[in-house]
Amino acid sequence: MSDTSLASASASGGPHGLGATDRRDSWWLGPMLVFLGLVAFGVYSTWAAWTGTDYLLQSHGAYYLSPFYSPDVKDLFGIAPPFSFAFLILWIPLGFRATCYYYRKSYYRAFFLDPVACAVGEPKGRTYRGETAFPFILQNMHRYFFYLATIVLLFLWFDALRAFFFTGPGGHLQFGMGVGSIIMLLNVIALSAFSMGCNSFRHLIGGKMDCFSCSGAARTRYKLWKGVSVFNLRHQEWAWISLFSVGLTDLYIRLCCMGIIHDVRIF
Ligand code: FES
Repeated sequence: MSDTSLASASASGGPHGLGATDRRDSWWLGPMLVFLGLVAFGVYSTWAAWTGTDYLLQSHGAYYLSPFYSPDVKDLFGIAPPFSFAFLILWIPLGFRATCYYYRKSYYRAFFLDPVACAVGEPKGRTYRGETAFPFILQNMHRYFFYLATIVLLFLWFDALRAFFFTGPGGHLQFGMGVGSIIMLLNVIALSAFSMGCNSFRHLIGGKMDCFSCSGAARTRYKLWKGVSVFNLRHQEWAWISLFSVGLTDLYIRLCCMGIIHDVRIF
């Protein structure tokens, strides 16, 4: 559909009703993939967190901790609730992603169909209030979730580096590398790329400034802002890559714990 016909459709009000559109492209494909991807991840992550087992691989000197269970508050602080302690942690990355600007666009389209895509009819009878009223006004808490998620990310970096040290004879730690070490490192890199592209992070670094060149500190902040903005250009891609890398890292550790597969020690 050309810009001109889009404009005229818009000017005349366009087709009405849910899903009504003049578009002839596969506009439904994106929302459908988002729906399937988020449902699949939601089901798997809920089950993995619910089990409360098979999240820490310690065989053959390895120490691989599932990202769903990091930080290990049970081991670190002796916190042992009557349910899986993963739920004490997971509300942070869940809140971080649920309030992310990219994910908001995605699930508003895929789950609320509001609108399902550009120039496609949405459900009737809804009053658009944006994010100015409850519950969506809570999306403004994104920056606070970013701060909390950054703390969790630091623990994940520790876990990834810890995965390169194996308990040897006499209980001493030795540097080594297994397939699990690489998976955990790649996962935390993907999560960092997602976090660094966060708009709240960009605002923290380069926001609230009237002049980018008026002082040395301002110029430094400008350079940093440009640096992290590189990740923002691919925020959508990093959102999905990091989502699946978290799930796959848990799956790898879980399958090793269950004895279904075995970690391969590279050296
Ligand atoms: Fe996506 Fe902050 S805008 S994580």
